[in-house]
Amino acid sequence: MFENILLEIDGAIATLTINRPDKRNAVNNDTVEEIGKALDQIEADPGLRVLILTGAGEKAFVAGADIGELDRRDTLLGRSETRRRQEVYTRIEQLEIPSIAAVNGWALGTGLELAMVCTLRIASAKAKMGQPEVKLGIIPGAGGTYRLPRLVGMGRALEMILTGEPVTAEEALAMGLVNRVVPPENLMEEVRTLAETIVSRPKLAVQYAKEAVLRCVETGLAQGLAHESYLHALSCGTQDKKEGVASFLEKRTAKFTGK
Ligand code: COA
Repeated sequence: MFENILLEIDGAIATLTINRPDKRNAVNNDTVEEIGKALDQIEADPGLRVLILTGAGEKAFVAGADIGELDRRDTLLGRSETRRRQEVYTRIEQLEIPSIAAVNGWALGTGLELAMVCTLRIASAKAKMGQPEVKLGIIPGAGGTYRLPRLVGMGRALEMILTGEPVTAEEALAMGLVNRVVPPENLMEEVRTLAETIVSRPKLAVQYAKEAVLRCVETGLAQGLAHESYLHALSCGTQDKKEGVASFLEKRTAKFTGK
């Protein structure tokens, strides 16, 4: 059904793999459209609880935008193609369910931008991450200048964006760009275990918590706290809240239903 990506559904976990290993999973315009179609499917499936995003093969998560297509990108295409990528990638960030980037190798340019729209990032010890656009005479165009400083701070983000030099997985961990670094052979197992932990938590509490944190980062104190309070109130109305509190008081394991 897809030419450039794979979408696998296993119970409550969807795995979207960018599948152009011969091109180090470089994202061309067709890949962007296929990611959009995969998101249609993911959003329409109420049984899904976590999305895992990764790249095919051993070498790359995503080695950037397809440089073959950059060759023909003029000012007009520069605007329209970046806007389209921003729109599709932002849908991943805004999904009701959390997403985890399994950064299995190079995450460069649009690859790092894709990893950054995920809710969490786990990196293989051999992964390297960067925004190398400046080396091609361009600047990031799929959210890098917005999301990188928010994750790692202005100074580090500016160093990465102005030099174009990548950081190692350990450096990324130290600056908060990834949540964990694991041995390459354990990457998918660790990501899956993390995904299953999230799946075991009450569905609506996870959804509201994610929304509250995203809103708080975007807004000022008054709006952020008001929104948090509304979402907290909604979580108080769920069956899983009754079950979670009762199970603690009754010293038993909770049985959550997602309602
Ligand atoms: N766009 C298009 N093709 C790409 C690509 C990209 N971003 N990144 C890699 N490829 C292609 C190469 O052209 C090569 O194709 P070929 O076999 O037809 O010649 C193939 O993928 C393998 O690339 P290669 O450079 O030989 O792999 P490597 O493992 O030695 O190096 C990278 C991996 C990621 C370090 C290197 O490919 C690279 O620097 N890529 C470009 C990164 C970049 O600048 N991205 C930002 C774009 S905005």
